[in-house]
Amino acid sequence: MRKSSDFEFDDLQGLLHFGYGKLTDTCFMLLNIANVDAAKRWLDKAPVSRAIKTNPPPDTALQIAFSVQGLKKLGVSESIINGFSDEFIYGMTRNENCSRRLGDIGRNAPKYWKWGNNSAEMPHILLLLYAKKGGLEAWRRTVEDEHFSQAFQLLRHLPTSDMGRIEPFGFEDGISQPTIDWTCRQSTDLHERDRYSNLLAVGEMVLGYRNEYGQYTARPLIDPRKDRYATGLPNAEDDPTLKDFSRNGTYLVLRQLDQNVPGFWQFLDKVSGSVPEKREQLAASMVGRERNGTPLIAEHIPGISRKDHGNHFTYDLDPTGNHCPISAHIRRSNPRTGDLPPGVTGFISRLIKILGFGQKPEEDLVASSRFHRLLRRGRSYGPILAPEDAVKLDAPVAEHGLQFICLVANISRQFEFVQNAWTMSSKFSGLQQERDPLLGNREPLMSGESTDHFNHPEPSGPMQKTCNLPQFITVHGGGYFFMPGLRALKYISALPANGSDHSS
Ligand code: HEM
Repeated sequence: MRKSSDFEFDDLQGLLHFGYGKLTDTCFMLLNIANVDAAKRWLDKAPVSRAIKTNPPPDTALQIAFSVQGLKKLGVSESIINGFSDEFIYGMTRNENCSRRLGDIGRNAPKYWKWGNNSAEMPHILLLLYAKKGGLEAWRRTVEDEHFSQAFQLLRHLPTSDMGRIEPFGFEDGISQPTIDWTCRQSTDLHERDRYSNLLAVGEMVLGYRNEYGQYTARPLIDPRKDRYATGLPNAEDDPTLKDFSRNGTYLVLRQLDQNVPGFWQFLDKVSGSVPEKREQLAASMVGRERNGTPLIAEHIPGISRKDHGNHFTYDLDPTGNHCPISAHIRRSNPRTGDLPPGVTGFISRLIKILGFGQKPEEDLVASSRFHRLLRRGRSYGPILAPEDAVKLDAPVAEHGLQFICLVANISRQFEFVQNAWTMSSKFSGLQQERDPLLGNREPLMSGESTDHFNHPEPSGPMQKTCNLPQFITVHGGGYFFMPGLRALKYISALPANGSDHSS
């Protein structure tokens, strides 16, 4: 067990540790590097916020992440780049197959995106600025100093707005997050813990540490004898003769998701016969929580009251989705499964399950959740439109959405898996003809089978089916970034110009 104070929080960008929820005003910028030397001078002095708790908490924060194109532009060597995962190197739009798996087809296809639609033209840098209410303009002036304007070209300013904890459809968001096991309290050994747990190995979110497999996610390691700039980098935990460029860094996944708020509520209103309670019930069953955040499963779990947002539940007592539909957004994006089906306790029954015998069809085991968790750090955009106003046919027209951000150590096993195998899959957990009722595109399968259905229980009644679900969310942009540790940031800013020899 590691002491919390032993962890290198001062080398971690703060977003890995805090959501910066009190810093309500944000400015997300996509930048290209116009002048490499000026960019390095700015990066060297940039007031990047670390994951250290301060008293009082900070009034502002700044976080930086790079696309692979940005790292290359700054002179990071091919051998380091090649140490990153293929998904990061080749990007979110790397080929049609990838787009299909991520659900980026039809209206979501990258050719319609506002940015990021072509890996080769990915913005170099993502800058995230946070400030207390009213403090953003002053913070921008501090960050955008004279080097900044020389160094960067602003490609796009991603909209964000302060909607409190409520996302544009009107639901409380940001409730369920994994707890990172900074002190290594919990074993990652498969057979010591096969129940769902919210506690997650550091290496699931931060590169350079052991992950839930007890291993190190693939990452760029440097031989310091061959790279004189690498001496200030942290040692690789599993091989101290090497330097770990990625340690204390993470991958940042960004998706700009447009939400059709009037379209969502007007559809629900129509299919629920304009009965407000029915409309609310249907909306809640699509999310898996009521608008105030109460999980639908709450009534049925001893120990959590309906008023309690409590996140301490699983779906073990609701295997067929009678209380929370199997397809509900929160159930798809985190089915809260353990390594073995629920109810398996004794040595013999565990052995039988491990060997794969005696599996009932309803126990069709959705992959164990602990390998597929996301640390969500997105922000909403657009004006607040209450559901009661959104149902009106003359609801004001405006852009609403979510700048979805998640931090992960393995893009394919975490973000891409959740997006593909869980939220977009029309076969998730034995379901058919439906995708995530909130997120899903409604494109038919290649076989022609439709995907625009939603099966959900009626309170104390039989299962209901809603058909012809429109698409409520459209992708407007996206990309993968690397958010380095502070020492790696220093390494980048000290590098010589492109192609120079790094050897000592
Ligand atoms: C505009 C798009 C989206 C909206 C409106 C939305 C909305 C919500 C809401 C209301 C919750 C419940 C609050 C909570 O548990 O924190 C939630 C939870 C969650 N969402 Fe989304 N979400 C969106 C996109 C996504 C995407 C793209 C992913 C990942 C691929 C995702 C993954 C999750 C996860 C992992 C949870 C927590 C589930 C749990 O642990 O119970 N969401 N979302």
